[in-house]
Amino acid sequence: MAEKGEVLVEVKDLNKNFGVTVALHNVNMTIKRGEIRGLIGENGSGKSTVTSIIAGIQPATSGEMFYKGQPWKPKDSLEALHNGIGIIVQEMGTVPTISVAENIFIGDYDRFKVGPIISKRKMVEEAQKALENIGVTDINAARVTRNYNMEQRKLIEIAKTMAHDPEMFVVDETTTALSESGREILYRLMRKAADDNKAVVFISHDLEEIMDKCDTLTVLRDGDIIGSLEKEEYDPDLIKKMMIGRDVKGDYYRSDMEGYSDEVVLKAENLTTMQDLLCFDLELHKGEILGIGGLSECGMHTLGRALYGLEDIVTGSVTLTKSGTKVTSPEIAFNQRMGYVSKNRDLESLVLNGSIAVNIQSTGYKANRGLGFFISDKKERDYAQLQIDNLAIKCNDMFQPVSAMSGGNKQKVVFGKWLAADAEVLILDCPTRGVDIGVKASMYKLINDMKQAGKSIVLISEELPELCGMADRLLIMKDGKVTGEFLRPDGYDNTELIDCMI
Ligand SMILES: Nc1ncnc2c1ncn2[C@@H]1O[C@H](COP(=O)(O)OP(=O)(O)OP(=O)(O)O)[C@@H](O)[C@H]1O
Ligand SMILES: [Mg+2]
Repeated sequence: MAEKGEVLVEVKDLNKNFGVTVALHNVNMTIKRGEIRGLIGENGSGKSTVTSIIAGIQPATSGEMFYKGQPWKPKDSLEALHNGIGIIVQEMGTVPTISVAENIFIGDYDRFKVGPIISKRKMVEEAQKALENIGVTDINAARVTRNYNMEQRKLIEIAKTMAHDPEMFVVDETTTALSESGREILYRLMRKAADDNKAVVFISHDLEEIMDKCDTLTVLRDGDIIGSLEKEEYDPDLIKKMMIGRDVKGDYYRSDMEGYSDEVVLKAENLTTMQDLLCFDLELHKGEILGIGGLSECGMHTLGRALYGLEDIVTGSVTLTKSGTKVTSPEIAFNQRMGYVSKNRDLESLVLNGSIAVNIQSTGYKANRGLGFFISDKKERDYAQLQIDNLAIKCNDMFQPVSAMSGGNKQKVVFGKWLAADAEVLILDCPTRGVDIGVKASMYKLINDMKQAGKSIVLISEELPELCGMADRLLIMKDGKVTGEFLRPDGYDNTELIDCMI
């Protein structure tokens, strides 16, 4: 009988190198039954690397692992899952072109063989049950996965992992893709696993969340384990110090009360979209940081897309007031010096198999023209290098593919491409998602610098502290409409804001 406190997984002197990058350096870690273990550390500190090695996604360069006291060296993630170790990965972990059921039972289709034929019907039935078991009822297991949004795909992935009843599972920075109800599902599964003397490894940049949900916490920095804390030792300042290696002030938002110009640069009138928005009005001013907040399903993400010409508009319009241009497509938006950072970074903001340089340079084909129509190589290199330096993007060189970067560093590349383009109007949808506090601080500074330079910014966010810390003006949305407007000089009152959300 498995007992609480028994060692389930042991990692000994694990090293992982990617070329000259040392992603893990002599990492030692013991994961015990009955615990939810938190992992925290700055972007690129090695959290995804160590957990993906345990879960069989990639091999270590050197070192040993033990699982239930036996040497552990899974050849791939399916072998790991079949033996009881699952992972819900940081990026998209489902294949969009196959059905939900096929995703849930990927690698296991033989289970549904009737004679020589795989019974799709049986597989769909089982998959539907797997979804129901985790409390999801609005996904049809027979449908193709691409019909579902990011959150639903994450839930499919969770159902897939749980269908194997794992002894241990890793949750890598998943909660930022989930709404409140999705998070509750996940938290419940994590707690239940721990109560059943299984184990969970939980990765998050949200200090409050990780302190609340985890029984013990391990801090990584630059591929080293800095230390572990038990719940009673948790202290936010201490944890931050361990992460960054120096003292960090709690406050990194702007402190000024500077206003913005009266000039309206962008206007949405009576905007109704196929999804979510109903007769929505908005005015964005020159030099303004306009915050948009609400619960995840309130329509704010659709608003961001609609402002950049990415949604089907039923009635109303988005207009750049100076030129009178109607923004009806992303091409128009781009040509009019607008920029957009999507919440769904990997699918919408990056060319994943392109290099850092290619991604940043994607906004610069006009700026980097040399003589005639030729693009100047040197200008292009400088264009990318400037942002790599500015944003301290962690990489070996600008030719490294973006797919190999940590989540936070990817987000820096997205930011870099719009900074480089010197966009006049920037739509930021959850720009600090999955970004550690060090990078967050530098992004807030960048946003403020852009404001100072007279740029206009729409900041859509699920984090109230971030909105209150940065916005000149704050619109709270519910059911596709504005339910409250607040001004920075009046001070933001959390209770009032939340009242407008629910
Ligand atoms: N496939 C790869 N090729 C090259 N370098 C990689 C690869 N995967 C990770 N790295 C590098 O290894 C280091 C650790 O990355 P890892 O993804 O484990 O960080 P992380 O702690 O999960 O960060 P984040 O919080 O941003 O997700 C980083 O410097 C990253 O750029
Ligand atoms: Mg990661």
